[in-house]
Amino acid sequence: MTAFTYRDGVLCADSVSLADIAAKVGTPFYVYSETRLRENFREFHSHLADLNPLICFAVKANPNVAVIKILADCGAGADITSAGELERAVKAGIPPQKIIFSGVGKTRDEIAIALKLGIFQLNAESIPEMRIISEVAASLNLRAPLTLRVNPNVAAHTHFKLATGEMGTKFGIDSAQLDEAMELTRTLPALDLKGFQVHVGTHLFDYGDFREAYTKLADMVRFWRGKGFALTRLDLGGGVGIPYDGRTQAPFSEYAQIVHETVGKLGCELAFEPGRRLVGDAGALVSRVVYDKRGVSKRFLILDAGMNDLIRPAMYEARHSIVPVREGPVTGYHNSEPEPADVVGPVCETSDLFGENYLLPGVGQGDLVAILQGGAYGAAMSSNYNGRALVPEVLTSGDKFRTIRRRITVTEQIGWEE
Ligand SMILES: Cc1ncc(COP(=O)(O)O)c(C=O)c1O
Repeated sequence: MTAFTYRDGVLCADSVSLADIAAKVGTPFYVYSETRLRENFREFHSHLADLNPLICFAVKANPNVAVIKILADCGAGADITSAGELERAVKAGIPPQKIIFSGVGKTRDEIAIALKLGIFQLNAESIPEMRIISEVAASLNLRAPLTLRVNPNVAAHTHFKLATGEMGTKFGIDSAQLDEAMELTRTLPALDLKGFQVHVGTHLFDYGDFREAYTKLADMVRFWRGKGFALTRLDLGGGVGIPYDGRTQAPFSEYAQIVHETVGKLGCELAFEPGRRLVGDAGALVSRVVYDKRGVSKRFLILDAGMNDLIRPAMYEARHSIVPVREGPVTGYHNSEPEPADVVGPVCETSDLFGENYLLPGVGQGDLVAILQGGAYGAAMSSNYNGRALVPEVLTSGDKFRTIRRRITVTEQIGWEE
C-alpha cells in the first residue's frame, strides 16, 4: 500500500481527501498518514526481528511530537541530536532507556541533561568530546554509556552533502585515531564503552555502501576484542533511502540480509537509527498553483509552497514526485494542456525550484498538487524565510484527520521579536 491513493479521482491520505483538508486548513500544508508510518515501522522491524533490534527513530527527520508518538507506540526508541530533540522524544513518551544521543557538537549542558535522564547511549564523535563526556559524567557521579562513532572511510553513493562516512568529513573518529580513543576509554573511568556506531550517509540507494561499512565495523569489533575490549553493542546508524520521483529500489529485505551477513553473528546487541525510511513516503506537501506562467521559452507552475517549506530540492537537488490532487480535467482557472512546466515556489531565489519539465496533466492556475516523499526532512527543515508562515502539519488516521501543528503566522512570529 502507498500512503497516497486516488479515490473517486481525488488524492487521499489514508481515506481522507487532500482537497477536503486543503479546504479546512488552507495551503500549503504537510500531511502524514498514520497507517503508512505504522507499516513502515513494521516492515523495518520484521526483517530484523530475529536480531532483537533497538530501532531508534532519527527524530531529525520529522520531529513532530504526534509523529514520534505513533512510532513510540509501535515500539521505536529515538535517535536525537540535541537537547531539543530529547525534549520532544520524552514528551512523545519514548523511555530514556531507548534514546541514543548522536551529533558532533553536544554541549556540556546537553550531555548533563542526557546523563541525568539515564539515556541508552551517547555516541562520541571525537576525542575532545570523549573527554568532556567523561568530565560531565564524573561530576554527576555517573558513568556514561558510550559508543564510539567511527569514520570507516566509505564513500557513500549519495548526494555529496548527504555523505558522512569518508575521511575529511566532520563525522566520527578516524580509524587512524581509534587507538587513542580506545585507550582513553580505559583511562577515563566515567566512560562505559559499549561498542561502536557507524552512519556513512543518508538517502543511500546502493546497499553496497552498507555492506562495505558494516564489514569494516565487524573487522574492528574482532580486532578490538582481540585486544581485550568487551564490545557488546553496535549501532548501525540510519541512511536507508526511499524511491523519489519514480526510481526503483531494491527491497528492504536486501538491507536486512546485509546486516545479518556482516554483523549478525558477532553476538552484539544491535541498534538502528532510521529516519527517512520510516517517515519519508508517509508524508506529502500539498500546495496550490498560484500562477500558470507561460514565458517565451518556459512554462512555470508557481506554487504557494516554497523552498522555505521544503528545502530538499534547493539544498540536495532532490526531485520529488509531484502529482495532481484531482485526477483528469480540473476546474482550475486555467485548465492547461499537458505541457511540461518547471514547478517553482514564490521565494525570491532561483533555487526555489521543485523540478524542471514536470508533466502535470490538467493542472493549472488554482489547482492543488501534492509533492510526495515529504515526510522526512520536510517540515523538519522548514523556515520562515521571505516573511512566510511556518507551514501546518496534518495527520490522517483512517477517515479522520487532525492538525498536529497549526500554521505559525507572521503576526505571531513578529510577536516573538518584541
Ligand atoms: C547519525 C545519524 N543517524 C541517523 C540519521 C538518519 O538518517 P536517515 O534519515 O537517512 O535514516 C542521520 C541523518 O543524517 C544521522 O546523521
